[in-house]
Order: sequence, then structure tokens, then C-alpha cells
Amino acid sequence: MAGEAASRRVLLVGFMASGKTSVGRELAAMLEWQFHDFDSVIEDRAGVAVSEIFDREGEEHFRRLESKVAGELLALEHAVLATGGGWPAQPGSWEAVPEGTLSVWLRVSPGVAVRRASSEGPVRPLLAGEDPLGRARELVEQREGSYRRAQIALDSDKDDPATLATRIMKIVRGEVDRV
Ligand code: S3P
Repeated sequence: MAGEAASRRVLLVGFMASGKTSVGRELAAMLEWQFHDFDSVIEDRAGVAVSEIFDREGEEHFRRLESKVAGELLALEHAVLATGGGWPAQPGSWEAVPEGTLSVWLRVSPGVAVRRASSEGPVRPLLAGEDPLGRARELVEQREGSYRRAQIALDSDKDDPATLATRIMKIVRGEVDRV
């Protein structure tokens, strides 16, 4: 990473159930950085689950809360941030990412995402319909271009969170290249 500014925060993006939260927690512990999950901060502030926010106020309202929380969390240093799966695809999201951020896309295939999401809960409102796999395929296709804007991409279908976190830690520490 010669010539590049050192990373002061890591931003994890990717589809639902790609492992952003588990990888983020592991990575933050390894780096001894703080960890924040966009959805958890939104839920703490709203006092209700994300699914409730979708039900009661709709997706647009959720996106406004998400954008506000993102702006605040992206100002933190020595922080690992797990975004919600839809955040990178919202207008203006990437423009809000400051210098010194290492962005990482955790790639997951729709089938694995749906399997994990159904076993792990909590309920994802956008996969709650009759055909979660069809919906997941559609959303992944729509969003892939936004996820691709991350600086690096790692395959999360097979590797466990500790393995992925270790790989990212080495990149943050400059022990291996970004590719
Ligand atoms: C969403 C993903 C969820 C949550 C909300 C919307 C999406 O986060 O923000 O349900 O649009 O993909 P996870 O990716 O953590 O499940």
C-alpha cells in the first residue's frame, strides 16, 4: 500500500446475510477498534426493530434514518462499520465515504444469503415475501454495481468470519496488498 493513506476505518458492504456484522465484530476485536452496525444504531435510537420501522413508517423513512446514522458513523476513526445491505445502493452513499476508509464488499450468492437469513433471523423485511430467493436474486442484480464500488471484494459464501476478518486485518495493517 505504498503511497496510500493508512486506513482509519473499515466499511463493510454486501447483501443481507453476507456476514458484515460477524466479520465486523471479529475484525474490530483483532484491531482493537470500535465496532458499529448501522441497523443496530438505528434500532437503538428508534427503540424498535428495523422490521417494525419498515412496517410502520415504510422503507423511505428507514432510508432517511440510515443516511443520518451513516453520516455520523463515517466520521469516526479507528472504527469498523457494518452497513445495511441496501445502503450502498442509495443515492449519495458512496460520496459520503471519507478518505482513509477501506471499503470491503463481502460477496454472497443469493441462495446462501436466503439460507443464512432464514436460519439466523431477525426477519429481513425485504425477504419476507413469498419468494425470498427470487427477490434476493433481483436485489443482488440491482445492487451489484453499487457493491462493486468497494475497494476490495472477498467471497463470503465459504470462508468463515474469522478467516475473512484476518484477511482484512492484514490489508489494514499493510501486510498484504488489496487485491
Ligand atoms: C436491508 C438490509 C438489512 C436492513 C434492512 C434493509 C436491505 O440489513 O438494513 O432490512 O435493503 O438490503 P442487513 O444487510 O444487515 O440484513
